[in-house]
Amino acid sequence: MNSMTVTADGVISSPATARADLDIREHEHVSHYQTIGEPFVDNAKMSARNVNVFYDDKQAIFDVSLDIGGNEVIAMIGPSGCGKSTFLRVLNRMNDIIPICRVQGDISLDGDNIYGSDQDTVLLRARVGMVFQKPNPFPKSIYENVAYGPRIHGLAHSKAEMDEIVETSLRRASLFDEVKDQLDKPGTGLSGGQQQRLCIARAIAVSPEVILMDEPCSALDPIATARIEELIDELKANYTIAIVTHSMQQAARVSERTAYFHLGKLIEVGDTKEIFTMPKHELTENYITGRFG
Ligand SMILES: Nc1ncnc2c1ncn2[C@@H]1O[C@H](COP(=O)(O)OP(=O)(O)OP(=O)(O)O)[C@@H](O)[C@H]1O
Ligand SMILES: [Mg+2]
Repeated sequence: MNSMTVTADGVISSPATARADLDIREHEHVSHYQTIGEPFVDNAKMSARNVNVFYDDKQAIFDVSLDIGGNEVIAMIGPSGCGKSTFLRVLNRMNDIIPICRVQGDISLDGDNIYGSDQDTVLLRARVGMVFQKPNPFPKSIYENVAYGPRIHGLAHSKAEMDEIVETSLRRASLFDEVKDQLDKPGTGLSGGQQQRLCIARAIAVSPEVILMDEPCSALDPIATARIEELIDELKANYTIAIVTHSMQQAARVSERTAYFHLGKLIEVGDTKEIFTMPKHELTENYITGRFG
């Protein structure tokens, strides 16, 4: 009988992971590698070049170069611990709040280095928003959860303008109709799926250009997950989205491009359909066919 273990992130791993460890260790000794596929695009919104990330002396990301195209949804997949969250955090400098984390390489947004000494990280995180695995509404009202960002960025000049931003953001997150009569109630009182849509509304409220989503559905039931996936599909008309997911079905449903990470390396990237039907690298194939992960 299969025994399942659950990690601190809530990720369920099966004994298949143990077999994968053999593959992983083999790969670990390959110091030079080249990403297979097409990491670069013509209309890059964000570009990472030769990025290495360390936690103290432990390296978590190895020489990753990748573009995120404007108005695309790119999925990042790979076994637990392969560096997906680390790479995502590097894109809006959330890693700055981890003191032992060090980043090398170039990362740009619209061609501008986001690690430049003149970069305002509060402004950067408004342009590159983030939605986390566990919905994390502020302990404030539904209205205030959404209004907080616009207020600190001075986006509304009157109560009417703020009301408008709150309503539009909640509508775009497809939550408005469910909460319109209880905007003054605590955000934490909503269901998990509603809380996650509230967090998406909060991210949208400051008009970001890029939204980073780190396993946004892993705490949600299938119905709430379907809502979020529909939402991602709608949002991509206006935003660029990078989503980390453990669900290959989800990656296949929502993304145009998929990047496969393995032990901190970007092994393969390309058109989602091709990655899932004709992976070129053995490690990608092993992962998507469920041999490990
Ligand atoms: N705050 C941290 N301090 C020290 N090491 C960390 C920290 N965060 C991540 N790491 C290490 O960096 C590596 C990559 O972790 P990361 O969380 O980016 O992986 P992941 O692909 O997101 O995994 P999962 O699928 O489990 O979320 C792991 O070896 C992990 O232990
Ligand atoms: Mg993670």
